[in-house]
Amino acid sequence: MNKTSKGRALSVWRTIQTDRFLVGAPHYPEHVDESYWDNDARRMAEAGFNVARLGEFAWHIFEPREGTFDFDLFDRAIEGLARHGVNTILCTPTATPPRWLTAKHPEILRLDGNGRSMGHGSRQYADTSSPVFRDYSRKITRAMVDHYRDNANVIGWQTDNELNTSMPESYSPSALKEFQAYLQETYQTIDRLNFAWGGDFWATAYGDFSEIVFPLEFSPSFPGPGHLQDYHRFLAFSTARFQHDQVEILRKANASWFIFHNLGGLRDIDFRGHFSTDLDFVGYDIYPFLYDEFFRLGNHAKIQALHLDICRGFSGNYIVPEQQSGFGAQPGFCTLTPEPGEMRRMAMSSVARGADGIMFFRWRPAHFGAEIYWMGIIDHDDVARRRYDEARQFATEMTALKDKILGTHVRMDVGIAGSDFDNQEAHKTFPIGLPSPQDDATLLHQYCYDRGIACGFIHPEDDLSKLKVFYVPHWVIWKDSWTERLQVFAENGGTVIIGARTGTRDENNHVIRETAPGRSLSKLTGVRVEDFGRLAAPGANGLFNTMSRSGGLVIPPDRPAESSRRIRRFAVGNHEFDAGYFYENLAVEPEVEIVGVWSNRYAAGTPAITSRAVGKGRVLYVGTYLTPELTAQLATRTFVDANVEPLVPGLPDGVEVTMRENHERRLLFVQNVKDTPVTVTGVPFGSNLLDSEGPVPGVLTLDGYGCAVLELI
Ligand code: GAL
Repeated sequence: MNKTSKGRALSVWRTIQTDRFLVGAPHYPEHVDESYWDNDARRMAEAGFNVARLGEFAWHIFEPREGTFDFDLFDRAIEGLARHGVNTILCTPTATPPRWLTAKHPEILRLDGNGRSMGHGSRQYADTSSPVFRDYSRKITRAMVDHYRDNANVIGWQTDNELNTSMPESYSPSALKEFQAYLQETYQTIDRLNFAWGGDFWATAYGDFSEIVFPLEFSPSFPGPGHLQDYHRFLAFSTARFQHDQVEILRKANASWFIFHNLGGLRDIDFRGHFSTDLDFVGYDIYPFLYDEFFRLGNHAKIQALHLDICRGFSGNYIVPEQQSGFGAQPGFCTLTPEPGEMRRMAMSSVARGADGIMFFRWRPAHFGAEIYWMGIIDHDDVARRRYDEARQFATEMTALKDKILGTHVRMDVGIAGSDFDNQEAHKTFPIGLPSPQDDATLLHQYCYDRGIACGFIHPEDDLSKLKVFYVPHWVIWKDSWTERLQVFAENGGTVIIGARTGTRDENNHVIRETAPGRSLSKLTGVRVEDFGRLAAPGANGLFNTMSRSGGLVIPPDRPAESSRRIRRFAVGNHEFDAGYFYENLAVEPEVEIVGVWSNRYAAGTPAITSRAVGKGRVLYVGTYLTPELTAQLATRTFVDANVEPLVPGLPDGVEVTMRENHERRLLFVQNVKDTPVTVTGVPFGSNLLDSEGPVPGVLTLDGYGCAVLELI
C-alpha cells in the first residue's frame, strides 16, 4: 500500500496519503478454534473488508518462553486471510508482556501512588519508562519484524495498544531513576531545576538530581505546579521514547510498511512532539458511549463529533482502528448499544470528520476473558446479523467513494485553540475547580455543531489562514510568537477571541511578572487585567473545593449564600447574564470598544468583554469563561461580520453536517443522528454519492440514522 504522511508537518489540514480506504476489523484468531478461520476470512472479504488487525495481546504466543519464538498460529491466520484478499496489520504486543517476563523481572511492573504493584490478569501493567522492559520490547519487535519483513500480506503496523489508557503513571524505583535522568538532561544543573520548580517555596529545593522525588498527590498537601508539570512532560517523553524504540526497528526492516498507533484515553501523549511525527499517521479509537463528556452532557453523537474534532486538531486526518460496533462491557461498566442503522451512521460521522480508514471493533466477540460481552460484527453464535450487514454496506460505500474522499481535509470556519500538551497539563496542575480549556471550548463546539457551522480544534502554530474565527480558551501558557500569528490572522480579516487568564504563566508554569495577559497579548488586545476572582456560584459561599481527592468541602445547601454579595453578572447591550466561573477587572486602551460590562457590585459598568480593530479584522478579549448564553452572544456579535455561515441554514435538530474539501471537490456529509426520518431543506445543490438517484434539488430526506454524501456542484 502506498502510504504516508510522514515528513509532512503535523497539521489539521494534513490528509493521509493512501491509495485505498482501509476498512476491516481488529481480529483475534487466537480466541477461536481454527475450524472457524476460513469462514471468517470469507465473510470479511464478502463484506468488502480489505484489512484485519492482529496480534496486539499475543506476546505469550509469539514468545512462549524467553528467546523461543513461535509464529505458526499467526502465519496460518495471515495466510488464511490473504487467501480471501484480506491483508494484515500487525501490532507490537507490548500491552501484555507474558508471565515469564514479569515473573523474572517484577521491577518492570508499574507501582501506583500507594506502592501497589500492577500485574497479571490485567493489561498495561508494565512501565514503558523501564529500561528492562524497553529492552524486551525491542527484542520482541525485532523478532517479529525478522519473521514478517518479507511477508507481502503484512502491510503495516500498529505500535502497542492505546498507550497510557489504563495507567500512564508508575511510582516504582526504576521509574524514579528515569524521571531523575530526564530532569538532569532537561535542566543540566540542579539550580536551574530549583528555579523552575520554585524550590524556595515549602523547601522544595533539591541538592542533587538523585534526591528528586515524585509529585505524589496529597502527601499530605499539594505538590507544586512546576514539579507536576514536569512529571507529566516526563510521562509523555517516556511514552514517545518507548514507541520510538519500536518504530526505529520497524522502519529499518521494511520501508513500505505504514506505522500508526491507536490512541484511546489520550493521557500523557504529546502529539506535537515525537509521538506523532514518528508515525505515518495517527489512529484514534472511537467509543462515543464511553467518554466523560457523554456521561456529563449526554448526546453521544455530539460527543463523538467533539472527540473526532479534538483528534483531528492534533494530527490532521487519521484512521479509526477501533470503531465501536455493538454493546460493550468490561466487568465494571457497560455501554449503550448502537441501534440498527446507527453503527454505520457512527462510522460515517468518523469519516465526515477526517477518518481515512475504519476498523470495526471487533470481528467476533470473545467467549472468555474480561471482555466477553464486547460485541463485534459477528455474534457469539457465529451468526452474521445486522452489524455485519451495516459493515458490508459501509465498506462497499467507502471502497466506491475512496477516490472522492481521500485527499480531502475537513473544513473549519471556526477554530478553537487545541492540542497543546503544556496547556492541557498546566490546567491540571492548578485547576481550582475551573473548567479545563477543552471543557470551556466544548460550549463553543456544541454551539457550532447544533447549527452546522464548520468548527474544530487547531494549534496556533498551524496554518490559521483558512479560518474565519479563532477562539483561545484561557491558555495560561503562552508564547509571544503565537501572538504574532494571531496578529497576522486578524490583520488579514480574521476574528480572534481570547478567553480570561490566557498568557498568565510562563513555560515554567510560573505566574508572569508583567501585567496580564502579558506584554504581547496586552498590545494585541488593548487590555490589562488589574484584578481577578472566582465567581461565587449561586447558592454557595464562594468555596470551590471541587477537588474531592482531599476529602473536599461539602457545602450544605441551606447555608446562606454569599454569592449575592459578589460579582457574577455582566451585560452585553440590553442582555444581562450570569458570567462563567471567573471574573477579571480590565483596564483598556482608549481605542478599544467595550462590548460587555460587569453589571453588579463594585465593578458595575466596567469592561468585561472588549474588541479592538486590528487590520481588516478584530481581537476580542473576554474577561470570564464561556456559558451557553455568553457563547450565543459572542457568536451572534461576531460570526456574521466574520462571514461565518452554517453549511446548511436552519439545520433541523439531530442532523449533523460537515464538509470535506480540497481544490478539486467539496463533499457535504449529512447524517441523521435520530432514529426517525428527517427532511433537510436549504441543502446546497449537489449529487448524493450514496444514492444513485442523482442531484438533490435543495431538499434531502433521510431515514432514521440515514446518511448522505453530497458532492457539491
Ligand atoms: C479499547 C482497546 C481494546 C478493547 C476495547 C474495548 O480501548 O484498545 O483492546 O479493550 O477498548 O474495551
